[in-house]
Amino acid sequence: MPYLSPALNVMTSAARKAGRKLIRDFGEVENLQISLKGPADFVSVADKRTERILIEELQRARPGYPVLSEEAGLVEGPDKSHRFIVDPLDGTTNFLHGIPHFAISIALEREGQLVSGVIYNPITDDLFTAERSHGAYLNDRRLRVAARKQLKDCLSATGIPFMGRGTPEEHDRFFNELRAVVDSTPGIRRFGSAALDLAWVAAGRYDAFWEHGLKPWDIAAGMLMVREAQGVVTDLKGGERMLQSGDILAANEHLHPQLLKLLKAAGKL
Ligand code: IPD
Ligand code: CA
Ligand code: CA
Repeated sequence: MPYLSPALNVMTSAARKAGRKLIRDFGEVENLQISLKGPADFVSVADKRTERILIEELQRARPGYPVLSEEAGLVEGPDKSHRFIVDPLDGTTNFLHGIPHFAISIALEREGQLVSGVIYNPITDDLFTAERSHGAYLNDRRLRVAARKQLKDCLSATGIPFMGRGTPEEHDRFFNELRAVVDSTPGIRRFGSAALDLAWVAAGRYDAFWEHGLKPWDIAAGMLMVREAQGVVTDLKGGERMLQSGDILAANEHLHPQLLKLLKAAGKL
């Protein structure tokens, strides 16, 4: 059974409650696909409504904790030693297109350290949880990153930059990296939710994940998840500035150094 600290308990109940609403909204999005205007406005309202439910639930149980959330920004609170980091809907483009691959991501920091994380896919009812020093779980199953050691066996996930995300030079850098990984591994996936990408690395489904330009709410819970599943997480220079730079590489201890070397060499334009 997963270790549920009181805070993790609060976070999972909030995710489940908000998830029920997201499922209902997702059903509506599927109906709106054929309308001329499409579901964009509806999705942005659904995103904000999910965020409101999460912030309300978290602040009801932990009134003093500040919450950093994608849409609302920083909601201040007097307790300076804690902070929730929330993405109410990670995988918005999938949601908008009726593709059932998205998640709610919630992390908790204590004294600047990630201590609890929840990533919840309400469609599959996959609840990923992690607590510092107590492991990572998918529902009741303890997670461990995959054991594959060689690039020739390594299935990676990544995020492809897009219009409005990254400069032309950054796009070139990504394509160089992609080329290097394409030439050295049997497969790459782009499923469109960084939070789930990291959770799936923790679950041993993917062997690795890398992406540039992410935000703290995309990766905070997933970083803890991978580390608690015995994986290695760094930025793309091999340092610890993932939350500041938004650049991230997650893998097991064998593949991480090999991929870092490959990506570093490819990323130098
Ligand atoms: C996005 C997803 C996607 C990643 C993007 C993120 P959003 O988050 O995590 O996989 O490639 O960079 O912005 O916008 O769906 O919350
Ligand atoms: Ca996101
Ligand atoms: Ca989002």
